[in-house]
Amino acid sequence: MKSQNVLISILLASAGIPAAFAEPAVKAPSAAALNRTVSVTLPDSEHVFPPGAGAEIANSQCMICHSAGMVTRQPPLRFGEWKAEINKMRTAYGAPMPAEQVDELATYLTVIKGKQ
Ligand code: HEC
Repeated sequence: MKSQNVLISILLASAGIPAAFAEPAVKAPSAAALNRTVSVTLPDSEHVFPPGAGAEIANSQCMICHSAGMVTRQPPLRFGEWKAEINKMRTAYGAPMPAEQVDELATYLTVIKGKQ
């Protein structure tokens, strides 16, 4: 019972009026309900980057936070734009990719998804 209800009950009781708002009893969930298990099937993440020089960097660095499709479904970019995109992942989102791999990965992404 909330403290203001207790206070009102006391006031009503002292005036000889029964409190009309007794709170409903909260039913505790049964042990069976608390211990139930659920089974979920997560989608397969078998989609990796297409083979090619630099694919291992993409597979190991770019699927930490999202799918390969998040990258391969984007519109094609130029080398410099891919570099900027990779660096955005590193600086804005905290991708742990070493700086010295940026050029190799940008070259790979330009090969698989590049624009002249
Ligand atoms: C630390 C987490 C993280 C890592 C690692 C990461 N990304 Fe991302 N990436 C994100 C987030 C967050 C988004 C934005 C998702 C959204 O908008 O829903 C994103 C989105 C993208 C997009 C979509 C366009 C955009 O800018 O939003 C591209 C392309 C992309 N990432 C490329 C890459 C590449 C290439 C790598 C490998 C170096 C990489 N990401 C690694 C977090 C990460």
